Amino acid sequence: MNGNAPQISPDSNEQTDKIRFLKGSAISIWQNSGDGGSNWTRFANSLWPFRYFGVKAIRGKYNIDTCSDFWNNYERDIKLAADIGSTTLRFSFEWARIEPERGVIDMEAVRRYHQMLDCMAAHGLEPNATLWHFVHPTWFEDAGGFTKEENIPAFVEYCKRCFRWFGTRIRLWATFNEPTCYMFLGFIVGIAPPGRIFDLVAAGRMLSTMLKAHVAAYKAIKAMPGGDKAQVGLVSHHITFEAQADGILHGVAKLLSDWMTYWWGWDVLEHWMLTGEFVWKLPVLGVWQQWRDPEGKPPCDWWGINYYSRGIFSWYLVPSCRQQEVMTDMYYPIYPEGMYRAIKRCSEFGIPMYITETGIADARDDRRAIMIDAYFKEVMRAVAEGYDVRGFYYWTLLDNLEWATGYTMKFGLYAWEPDGSVDRKLKEGSKTLVRYFRTLPDSLEEVREAARKAQAVLGADLGVEQELKEEGFVRMGSEGKLLPDGKGPGEPGGVGMVAIG
Ligand code: BGC
Repeated sequence: MNGNAPQISPDSNEQTDKIRFLKGSAISIWQNSGDGGSNWTRFANSLWPFRYFGVKAIRGKYNIDTCSDFWNNYERDIKLAADIGSTTLRFSFEWARIEPERGVIDMEAVRRYHQMLDCMAAHGLEPNATLWHFVHPTWFEDAGGFTKEENIPAFVEYCKRCFRWFGTRIRLWATFNEPTCYMFLGFIVGIAPPGRIFDLVAAGRMLSTMLKAHVAAYKAIKAMPGGDKAQVGLVSHHITFEAQADGILHGVAKLLSDWMTYWWGWDVLEHWMLTGEFVWKLPVLGVWQQWRDPEGKPPCDWWGINYYSRGIFSWYLVPSCRQQEVMTDMYYPIYPEGMYRAIKRCSEFGIPMYITETGIADARDDRRAIMIDAYFKEVMRAVAEGYDVRGFYYWTLLDNLEWATGYTMKFGLYAWEPDGSVDRKLKEGSKTLVRYFRTLPDSLEEVREAARKAQAVLGADLGVEQELKEEGFVRMGSEGKLLPDGKGPGEPGGVGMVAIG
């Protein structure tokens, strides 16, 4: 093992001047590299869920076997991550690469991760590691995956192995990425493995097992040598859904929105975090599963906020947006205020927070700059008000395979096309993030100070706004959003020069 690991300093409130505010991007290894045998690779190559109609699981011409291949191009890509002014990189350990068969470890994969960590250290990037990002080995899936509590020890064993190999090199660990998102996509709408549709009972069982697995993995890591220095957290998706308007016409949309918020949002996790109690409700039938951890609130050192937007349903149940909002290429609009709200709500947990993912699917790259600017400002507003946010990760470094939507959703800071036409080109809109990263100090204390000052002087924003204006963006409306001069407001994918509010 190479000894170039970044300094590990334990978080402590007495030493806030030593704590860094981390700036970076986030990736998951599978979405850039694929693998030989995992639940997702198998699913991606299947015809499920509409196999009888010949519908493929992944949209578009290209599948994960065509990818930018971070696994082999990690030196190049880690440098690109550093080039944007980052001080950190969030990435995932891929269990299926490490333990392709039960009990069989691929030491080449372990070595590759050490090489990646060496490379991050050489570029001054602090690693932030996620142990499970939707992907696990097929042998685990076939044994029932996270729907069975008897499978928890296999996951914990894998986590312990990772900590044994990499524990001295990594301070920030997350057990899981977005348990509710995985549950919703895999067990309710069936567009992710295991491809079940409306299996709400299994969905609850899976979520319950995963939360128990978090606690078990947390305790196991903490009990290991060096475990006391590790910061073990959990990353959640923070989305809410609403009907486009009130009234009878929107009744069904309201009902659907409430359930979508319950399934995909963080209501269940929030209750569990605050009380140690897990409650799973079914429509009509009510509470279906319930337990309380005798030890009370679950252990968790930090909370990862993945925030993109809120969903709005029209009365005829089509994803929409409010008047004067701008849609992204996904089914939701740009909604900066939701970032602040998510931070505020998560602060109830009383632990440090990291924005572990935020970003935009924007193939035309004409909304990325305003999204970054507006979302970043909401984070700074929260920081100025004293909320304990300690980092910001943009999703994602390079255009990658966006799960079931394939390569159609362009989240990357760098453009990459599977047909070979574009290879790692920094997008214009991404330059706003680069400016923020370069302008923002590294220490948490200084970031807090800068945020407070920027907040005190209306419109001051660390100097980035002026540059945006020079590029043709205009500040409009009572909420003072920056929008590019252009097309009509509120139309899907359209961008408007409009007065908001
Ligand atoms: C996931 C990513 C995904 C991103 C954009 C998050 O839900 O963690 O894997 O690509 O959102 O949709």
